[in-house]
Amino acid sequence: MIKPIPYGKHFIDEEDIKSVIKVLKSDFLTQGKKVEEFEKALSDFHGCRYAVVFSNGTSALHGAYYASGIKPKDEFITTPITFAATANAGLYMGAVPVFCDVEPDTGNIDANLIEEKITDRTKVITPVSYAGNVADLKTIFEIAKKHNIIVIHDAAHALGARRDGYGITDFCHMAMVSFHPVKHVACGEGGVILTNSEKLKDKLMLFRNHGITKDKNLIENYEGDWYYEMLELGYNYRLTDIQCALGISQLKKAKESIIRRNEIAKKYINAFKNIKNIEVTKNKSIDGIHSYHLFPILTPKEVRKDFFDYMRNNGILVQIHYIPLHTMPYYKKNFGFKKGDFKNAELFYEREVSIPMFPSLADEQQDYVIETIKNYFGEV
Ligand SMILES: Cc1ncc(COP(=O)(O)O)c(C=O)c1O
Repeated sequence: MIKPIPYGKHFIDEEDIKSVIKVLKSDFLTQGKKVEEFEKALSDFHGCRYAVVFSNGTSALHGAYYASGIKPKDEFITTPITFAATANAGLYMGAVPVFCDVEPDTGNIDANLIEEKITDRTKVITPVSYAGNVADLKTIFEIAKKHNIIVIHDAAHALGARRDGYGITDFCHMAMVSFHPVKHVACGEGGVILTNSEKLKDKLMLFRNHGITKDKNLIENYEGDWYYEMLELGYNYRLTDIQCALGISQLKKAKESIIRRNEIAKKYINAFKNIKNIEVTKNKSIDGIHSYHLFPILTPKEVRKDFFDYMRNNGILVQIHYIPLHTMPYYKKNFGFKKGDFKNAELFYEREVSIPMFPSLADEQQDYVIETIKNYFGEV
């Protein structure tokens, strides 16, 4: 039988390995020059002013909620179709999650439903660009500006993605990208906040380094070269030079990787046109780039579990993204959510299956995936 095919996978080549070894032989494993180099490469790649790297995407989101100035009992609005970290990071600040239902055909937050969720305690909106398909940031940002709300774009899936001619950092105050291995750029663990605001950048830098500064302009009583002051309660959320070296090398291949992901997507979309009962999530962008972190398909909910088991039994390690966050016991217990609260999100979850999508997916592997799906659903 064919070797199991995962739904997502990192791609590491000799160049990546050499870059890491070089750092391992150098004087700095952390807090060295590779950190700034990676940050510069990331801000250049996305055409924004600043990038602040963090130890992972979750700590980066924690930094973003902190920098937003959100306080305990303030509210933030986000989507239930996401990984727990999107909302958990807001909870770390003592803030209260308010979920907003999703568009049934994309899994992205429905921008038209956001305004009715806003109260005088709403401080942040956190849209997620699900699977690499950019959420309607333009509409969301207009709403946010009207109500003086900060937008934290969870672009964990969306490195390099674009919608209607704008990028992931354009209609938001901060955008987070994750460097977890199944994402476009693998650092082992890692994340970044991209922003055009110097003020937010300064807050983020302080937060990821214990709240400590050596900046003479910020220090009250400078005593000498050894001197630093702790101004805020921060964390050690730094990314090492080892990981940054890997990230720099990986980022060089990101454009190519997104092109390959789009080729794979095109072949799936063509193949599924003739398959009964499969819907592909919609790409609503005109002149955009879907970065295809995932390739989600929507099946009839009655067969989803059976189809999932069938694919796994055939060596295709499909996955489900995501179990709606409001149905998690922690969220139900602490915030009073219940099943039935967000109908579109729940139906999306009941229908969704993520099939293999990664740049090194071989043509024969993809043919096998398509063939296996055809055998299940039959052709029209
Ligand atoms: C949508 C989303 N947000 C946040 C995260 C957290 O990122 P990390 O795993 O780098 O902490 C993930 C990671 O899986 C994610 O998919």
